[in-house]
Amino acid sequence: MVTNVQFLVFESPAAACREVAGEIAALIRSRDLIGRRAVLGLATGSTPIPLYRELIRLHREEGLSFRNVTTFNLDEYLGLERNHPESYWSFMHRNLFDHVDIDPACVNLPSGTVSQEEILRHCRDYEDAIREAGGIDYQILGIGRTGHIGFNEPGTPMDARTQKIHLDPITRSDAAPAFGGIDKVPTEAITMGCGTILEARRIALLAWGSKKASIVRQAIQGPITDEVSASFLQTHADATFFLDNDAASKICD
Ligand code: PGA
Repeated sequence: MVTNVQFLVFESPAAACREVAGEIAALIRSRDLIGRRAVLGLATGSTPIPLYRELIRLHREEGLSFRNVTTFNLDEYLGLERNHPESYWSFMHRNLFDHVDIDPACVNLPSGTVSQEEILRHCRDYEDAIREAGGIDYQILGIGRTGHIGFNEPGTPMDARTQKIHLDPITRSDAAPAFGGIDKVPTEAITMGCGTILEARRIALLAWGSKKASIVRQAIQGPITDEVSASFLQTHADATFFLDNDAASKICD
């Protein structure tokens, strides 16, 4: 088993995002040339915002088209309507989809309003849709302070599929300012599982700032453990951590 994952350190999030956006643009264009779609796995949170800004710039200034792109987001809060300002549906439209030429029919996020009885079926359908699209070519990830990827909180097994999860108190407190108080943060979400994520052909995990330094070190250099789901990336054949100097500051030589 591979026990070390590749990491790259950049002078700024913007510089890292130029690199990742370049990889994504090359994928989209190479697929376009052979008449096939590119399938992107997308993340929310503050981390990927500069990446989405760069992709929008590539669309506006360098002719990058998203007509041949299908997307699957990692997760969605349960209990939020699509048009709630903090839903990931709203986030993705505000930060990317409204600004590029993607076909709305090719945008996929788990539902935040599916009933408890329908959740199992909904999660299975999400997995089926990813498979039918040919699998995820390029997965973007952030990392939570709990080490989560998607919303796979500590204790989630490596082979987990898309499912309903309970949010860790640390994750909820990190989200509290955006919601105007922890009481307003949902307690549950639907997330792609670690197993779903690890099937992506290429994975780019992005992390910025000193608040992430300790968990980034654990994910890259610590044991592969379900206590830090990002550590599972050590087993992936083509996963790279894209870091700024502060997020990389605790990695040991
Ligand atoms: P952040 O969240 O990008 O807002 O830091 C990352 C995550 O929780 O995965």
